[in-house]
Amino acid sequence: MKRVLSGIQPSGTLTLGNYIGAIKNFVELQETHQCFFMVVDLHAITVPQEPAALRENSEAVAALYLAAGIDPAKASIFLQSHVPAHAELGWLMTTLAYMGELERMTQFKDKAEGKDSVGAGLFVYPTLMAADILLYNADLVPVGDDQKQHLELTRDLAHRFNQRYGEMFRVPEVYLPEVGARIMSLDDASKKMSKSSPTPGSYIALLDEPDVIRKKISRAVTDSGREVKYDEANKREVSNLMSIYSQCSGLSLQEIEAKYEGQGYGPFKKDLAEQVVATLEPLQARYREIRASGEVADVLRKGASEAEEVASGIVRQAKEKMGFLLPKLGR
Ligand code: AMP
Ligand code: TRP
Repeated sequence: MKRVLSGIQPSGTLTLGNYIGAIKNFVELQETHQCFFMVVDLHAITVPQEPAALRENSEAVAALYLAAGIDPAKASIFLQSHVPAHAELGWLMTTLAYMGELERMTQFKDKAEGKDSVGAGLFVYPTLMAADILLYNADLVPVGDDQKQHLELTRDLAHRFNQRYGEMFRVPEVYLPEVGARIMSLDDASKKMSKSSPTPGSYIALLDEPDVIRKKISRAVTDSGREVKYDEANKREVSNLMSIYSQCSGLSLQEIEAKYEGQGYGPFKKDLAEQVVATLEPLQARYREIRASGEVADVLRKGASEAEEVASGIVRQAKEKMGFLLPKLGR
């Protein structure tokens, strides 16, 4: 079975962008692939995190994975910090990467822009991400569009390692959703929908109450026209809302255009809100049950032990190839 690995940072409340760009594909891929889905807490601390908030958000992301339908009997769900091989191979990958290639990462440039002091962790963030992926010899990495460049770097580092030390790492492929790989802000379609935005009206959180969702969608910016038509160049706002509609309803973009022909934005937005509510309400109900049951800790323990089994062997093999003198296994 082909392998899949992905992760989400526990750095705030997850959004509909995370769901459409990533989690929805996780749920589908678990049926046909051996899957590892992480909560990347080591990545979250590349910007300061309040310890209590980090703990809460880490458990919350794991619970959202379960609530969205990831089944721990099919996929391994775990915290990155529970498997020490991530930090270890992360360091090895850092020594393979060049300053120049890390300086070119747009996520780094965006996060560092205008800051007086920029954490070194933010700079080497992509080498840890490469380690995450290579540790499982993942074939596919389901992510949103913003992670494509990090995936390219991962591929480069895998090639570099293989060339220098001998063939060992599989070179992974990115796996993007067909529609909605980049969900944009509701108040500014030039920016991606992000949980770190200071304006909550710009994003839909997975745990937003139905009435909050309805309000946010009714206030979402549109152009001054009235045609529900997918046109990313000239109608970015409506195109973004249509992508969300399509992913929540299962209708294609063409079917949505046909359904709202001649009707203007009003009915379209109203139905869109109901589609999003219908998608998130059952997830929210399951989320509350899961948090109340206390089952997350057990899921994470099982997931970490499954991940550890794969990852510890790979990091050992990488160290051996690089020339580290290895401690003897067993007693
Ligand atoms: P992050 O929240 O940065 O840890 O992202 C977790 C996953 O969600 C990654 O695969 C991202 O590419 C994806 N993602 C985050 N925001 C969006 C968005 N606005 N549209 C599509 N995918 C997204
Ligand atoms: N960098 C990713 C993000 O911000 C999160 C991430 C960390 C990840 N490690 C990963 C995604 C490995 C896929 C595979 O969204």
